[in-house]
Amino acid sequence: MRVVIKDTPAEAARYAADVFTRQLLGQPGSVLGLATGSTPLLLYEELIERCRLGALSFREASTFNLDEYLGLGATHPQSYRYFMDQALFDRIDIDKTRTHFPDAASPDPQKAARDYERCLRDAGGVDLQLLGIGANGHIGFNEPYSSLGSRTRVKTLTAQTVADNARFFSEDEFQPQLALTMGIGTILEARRIVLLATGPAKASAIKQSVEGPITAKCPASALQLHPAATVILDIEAAGALEDPALFRHIEKQDQALSPSANGVAS
Ligand code: F6R
Repeated sequence: MRVVIKDTPAEAARYAADVFTRQLLGQPGSVLGLATGSTPLLLYEELIERCRLGALSFREASTFNLDEYLGLGATHPQSYRYFMDQALFDRIDIDKTRTHFPDAASPDPQKAARDYERCLRDAGGVDLQLLGIGANGHIGFNEPYSSLGSRTRVKTLTAQTVADNARFFSEDEFQPQLALTMGIGTILEARRIVLLATGPAKASAIKQSVEGPITAKCPASALQLHPAATVILDIEAAGALEDPALFRHIEKQDQALSPSANGVAS
């Protein structure tokens, strides 16, 4: 696992944007795995700007989002499809027929989960997966004690996640407590993974994910098993790590060896 610590959320977002840019320049038809939430917004703004300037294009890319609230259709303003349209897809040159979400409005969510796995497989799997992390260590909506081998399925959100996400809902608005999410096993099949975390609320989950042990209690700790996972942090999210100086040292050495290879090794 490679750990990159930047001074600010904006620098962390730019570093992650460099990884996406390099991926798309090297393989314009890449399959990207994407996340919602507050954390990726700066990264998405950076990608939108680079697209506007002609420095990168999503024209040939496809995307698969990690999760969707169960029961919400694509046009529901609280759906993750709606969020992604607003935050990214409507502002870049992507072909929206190639942007995918689990069909959480399906009358048969178990079948929708199987269909999503099949669709992912047919697309050739994810080349670069973006993850955020919950304060409890969740990735996608794989809450603590999810099987590390899990596949796309329905998950019940924990009270903590519901409370953390309440900020997106108005007081008397219905807030779903179930979601369709890629599994941890599904996520680990991506060829490359970038986890982005910023702010002090993520420091404890990051400590557990990076320093271990690998445990279903902290789903993101499963990334230690992945051969090409990069954890990009701002200084606050890195705040509980035992030895942040070590990661800064490694990063400096890597930059000196290969200045354009941001996040290539693990
Ligand atoms: C959402 C997702 C979640 C979020 C996590 C952090 O698609 O995958 O795992 O990444 O809940 O959310 P924020 O960034 O809002 O703190």
